Amino acid sequence: MAFPANRLRRLRRTETLRSMVRETRLTPESFVYPLFVCPGSGLRKEVRSMPGVFNLSVDEAVKEAREVQALGVPSIILFGLPEKKDEAATGAWADDGIVQRAARAIKSEVRDLLIMGDVCLCEYMSHGHCGIVKSGPQSLGAAAAAPPATAEYEIVNDASLEILSRTAVSQARAGVDIIAPSDMMDGRVGAIRRALDHAGYTNTPILSYAAKYASGFYGPFREAADSAPQFGDRRSYQMDPANLREAMREIELDVEEGADMIMVKPAMPYLDVIATARERFDLPLAAYQVSGEYAMIEAAARNQWIDRQRVMMESLVCIRRAGASMILTYYAKEAARLLA
Ligand code: PBG
Repeated sequence: MAFPANRLRRLRRTETLRSMVRETRLTPESFVYPLFVCPGSGLRKEVRSMPGVFNLSVDEAVKEAREVQALGVPSIILFGLPEKKDEAATGAWADDGIVQRAARAIKSEVRDLLIMGDVCLCEYMSHGHCGIVKSGPQSLGAAAAAPPATAEYEIVNDASLEILSRTAVSQARAGVDIIAPSDMMDGRVGAIRRALDHAGYTNTPILSYAAKYASGFYGPFREAADSAPQFGDRRSYQMDPANLREAMREIELDVEEGADMIMVKPAMPYLDVIATARERFDLPLAAYQVSGEYAMIEAAARNQWIDRQRVMMESLVCIRRAGASMILTYYAKEAARLLA
């Protein structure tokens, strides 16, 4: 029986009705708030392309962590801006690295907040790539055919795993509760799992950035974390935005290697990837509403082209509706405040 017996507008008449039949709800418990930690003290430096997001010195990060917890958001993810960068990503795994220092300080002051550590090398490498760079033509034929700048280097996979594992262990030692590798090297989840277990961190879970795309939406992050590649791009390790089936293979391999939770990134342009992953896999699924998604909303709102709060909440509820159980978002604090 169709119209006039069926009228879907009957259940949309009042907010009480709409709320009763609502299928998806946001709660602060599912948010993760990203923090960018930098050297110094008393520092809060706003990121130009991400209004409301700051580079924070450790003491300020502790204050921020306290506020996050008070709002009912259970977790933060730490990114580091090291004192100096080199070709061995020393700042990523040093015992007194910036993330390690921040994790120790936050752990000792804000006990129950879950600290995630982004494990990657791009912020710590002078060249800004997520793995070790070997220069020299990959093959003479390719080098001759392609413009020299793109053919003259390679991001080495297996040797990078050792540095990533070392980074994960040093973060766990500093009090990081959840290890989140975002580098997209093959085999890194297995390598990190073995290294953590070997060092005695058998209870430290891995949240794998399993399906991470080579995305233009990371632009503002690279300013926030000072991690833009100095040459070339990340397309030889991050995924092609055109591929969905490959994302399922990436996730499957990470699950086999021991990932406890998986992530799709970016979020809003990739809702089909989130939905398909939700159907196929039974692990907790996270989605990262990335810097460019945030910056677009902020920029349009500043021009008064959209209603900022409304679009913020709509974007989050849609990411959740697609199937994400956790959302990493720069809106975590503000959305939590609105939900309270
Ligand atoms: C590190 C990393 C990136 C992001 C999270 N971890 C940048 C990149 O891969 O270039 C992006 C997050 C964002 O854009 O908000 N590899």
